[in-house]
Amino acid sequence: MKRRELINWVGLGAIASSLPIAIAACTAKTASEDWQIVGTVADLDKNGELLVKNWPTVNVLVVGTSQSANLIAVDPTCTHAGCTVTWQTEGEQFNCRCHGAEYSADGNVKRGPATEPLKSYTAKIENNSVLVKPN
Ligand code: FES
Repeated sequence: MKRRELINWVGLGAIASSLPIAIAACTAKTASEDWQIVGTVADLDKNGELLVKNWPTVNVLVVGTSQSANLIAVDPTCTHAGCTVTWQTEGEQFNCRCHGAEYSADGNVKRGPATEPLKSYTAKIENNSVLVKPN
């Protein structure tokens, strides 16, 4: 094998062997872009909830602690007229103080006048951060 052929052969092999790594890196980046950090575990554990305004253009309320089996996350903007709902641990529901609407933990309407559910998110804890992504 001539020197030039050897260099071409080795170069092609290097490109071929690094291609799966490059594809995996691009795929991982896309998946992690869905999750956004909205706060720290310490912030969440302090009050059992974490309200983040303008994330990036909406509000997110995460309910739970680092000890919770599942975190609840919704846009706390009441779908009736835009007031901010609050989490009621007793009864495990969101209440709106403006006109009395009630939503279940998954954001569905339990009591009007609201007719549309709260937008819900998926939340998780990773490396002392609270992460949320749209459903
Ligand atoms: S704004 Fe929430 S019930 Fe009216």
